[in-house]
Amino acid sequence: MKILITGTAGFIGSNLLRVILKDTPHSVVSVDALTYAGNRASIADLMDHPRHRFVHADICDAARMRALFEKEQPDAVMHLAAESHVDRSIDGPGAFVQTNIVGTFNLLQAARAVYESYEGAQKEGFRFLHVSTDEVFGSLGMGDPGFTETTPYNPHSPYSASKAASDHLVRAWADTFELPVLLTNCSNNYGPYQFPEKLIPVVILKCLRGEPIPVYGKGENVRDWLYVDDHARALLCVLEKGQKGQSYNIGGNNERSNIEWVRSICALLDELAPAQNGSHADKISFVTDRPGHDLRYAIDASKIRRELGWQPSENADSGLRKTVSWYLENRPWWENILSGDYRLERIGVGR
Ligand code: NAD
Ligand code: DAU
Repeated sequence: MKILITGTAGFIGSNLLRVILKDTPHSVVSVDALTYAGNRASIADLMDHPRHRFVHADICDAARMRALFEKEQPDAVMHLAAESHVDRSIDGPGAFVQTNIVGTFNLLQAARAVYESYEGAQKEGFRFLHVSTDEVFGSLGMGDPGFTETTPYNPHSPYSASKAASDHLVRAWADTFELPVLLTNCSNNYGPYQFPEKLIPVVILKCLRGEPIPVYGKGENVRDWLYVDDHARALLCVLEKGQKGQSYNIGGNNERSNIEWVRSICALLDELAPAQNGSHADKISFVTDRPGHDLRYAIDASKIRRELGWQPSENADSGLRKTVSWYLENRPWWENILSGDYRLERIGVGR
């Protein structure tokens, strides 16, 4: 297959691209606008891969997307490009409406145009996989069962509302225009190449720099953590084996309160990169809570396990150790982000 993937210079997209080029014979046209969250360094080793072509483009540019789809004639689409950080969506929701809703609309229209021109096996095999989040389902109480594929949508943040809107568009394009879509709703990912605005890299880098570790509220909020390569393999599994029109929840059955997870990272760093005095956990600092902070997310992933045979390979201990080790071994990657130098690499970007 030739797969068109959006958002490949971001956290999950870069890991997904690496998994696909390593483990499958598929070729990839990857599309990324290189926003603040996109980083060429995250896929530098893949830029010259014979089965990969990187296109620097914005999914909000409808004409560009239409022309790209016409030129590339992809067999499948995996749509990951998004504004993804909840705190930023509170400070500036406009970009979330543009990229997550309007950008998804542009891709659906571009995909629809080529799909309608396809015939035979190419038409039969075409799939548009929309990568969404568990946050569209809202917030759970502590004793509630996990989200299933039929849990009603109830988003609370501008980010989750914009992702929910994009999910509705995708389903509408399936029902109205018969576009063969697949949807996934995944829980919190962690692993290499995650931008240091999200909890896990924030904590690791604060520890390494000896700075206060910000924990929102009382640290009681619960997330269901999944190692990023397990998400990437789940997406491939859905693309290759999922039933047209279906959605699949993806999660690691690995719920942790924030404070518990933060203490685990501190303990691991006490072993791998000890603080000069005391424990890294001494730097934990409870700060003002996020407005509208969802209490708990938890995924019931029984459908994808049962129907498609997917299961995660990493557990919390192995995944966290790999992640912390990666940040210790890849200082230039995050130092360039913290200094802002990584953005200079956009200058002179090829097409
Ligand atoms: P990220 O912020 O790390 O990366 C997003 C990428 O999209 C960046 O490379 C950025 O440059 C690109 N992008 C943003 N706007 C664009 C535009 N207008 N045109 C083209 N490219 C653009 O995000 P992530 O954490 O890798 O998330 C990827 C996808 O997975 C998102 O759709 C997100 O909603 C979803 N998701 C994320 C998680 C998670 O825990 N990170 C969990 C479930 C679902
Ligand atoms: O559930 C899937 C979602 O997970 C994805 O759709 C989002 O793209 C992704 O960003 C993530 O959203 P969260 O808001 O859960 O992730 P974040 O890393 O921002 O925060 C995780 C938890 O940690 C959350 O309860 C807020 C808290 N937190 C976060 C940061 C950045 C802190 O306590 N301190 C922090 O500094």
